[in-house]
Amino acid sequence: MTKRPKIVAGNWKMNLLQNEAKLLAQSLNNGVQSIHNDNLIVLVFPGFTLLNTTSQSAIHFQVGAQNFYPEKNGAYTGEVSIEQLQDLNLKYALVGHSERRIIFSESNTLVRSKLLTAIDNDITPILCIGETSDIRDQKQHFQYIASQLKDALNDLNPHQVAKIIIAYEPVWAIGTGITATAQQAEEMHAFIRNWFAENFNIEIANSIPIIYGGSCNDSNALELFSCPNVDGGLIGGASLNVNQFLSIIKTINGLS
Ligand code: 13P
Repeated sequence: MTKRPKIVAGNWKMNLLQNEAKLLAQSLNNGVQSIHNDNLIVLVFPGFTLLNTTSQSAIHFQVGAQNFYPEKNGAYTGEVSIEQLQDLNLKYALVGHSERRIIFSESNTLVRSKLLTAIDNDITPILCIGETSDIRDQKQHFQYIASQLKDALNDLNPHQVAKIIIAYEPVWAIGTGITATAQQAEEMHAFIRNWFAENFNIEIANSIPIIYGGSCNDSNALELFSCPNVDGGLIGGASLNVNQFLSIIKTINGLS
């Protein structure tokens, strides 16, 4: 069976200024340089203005973009193209984060278009999916996640799908301090993996990394990441604190 990579990704969202990002990136780099694990990917997603500063210190971790617009170039005021990300040697980008879907009204069509653009340009997309508390209360969460996967991935070929990382981020857990229980995370991750087996093939299902996000911190990381179908985490608030973030990374490293 394929050994899936373990992934710890920090989403810095709209936080930090140059000096803060520089310090955080340097401390992170110092902290991860003693970890020798080819199967572990450490990533951070700074805001656009911080990409350069962060990349300068990123020797032992990778840097990705929180967003981009899926057109080559042109009259798209305020947007950043994938070519501009490649220009900074970035290899990863978030796609479909719930904050973009909800606050910026990103449609499934736009999410899909971003996903395809990333794949076609050799940027690994982390496709974020997740249900709101209302949907979970109505016990529609499995159906909803299946529909988000279908909307984003329908008709992609297995070769394209093999380039994607999935982040399951229940909206009710993001920034709320209410994390999914290990059981809730594991059952959804297993459901997502099974969706890939049914809609693509078993090799893809076994090899696609599925990471968890939503109020993940150094106290709950061990429980969450011990789940067989949870391949790591997409960390918001706790990734801004280097000690917390390093502790989460070390927890995953100890498990892999
Ligand atoms: P928190 O870890 O702050 O809940 O954020 C999760 C998230 O949205 C990562 O993309």
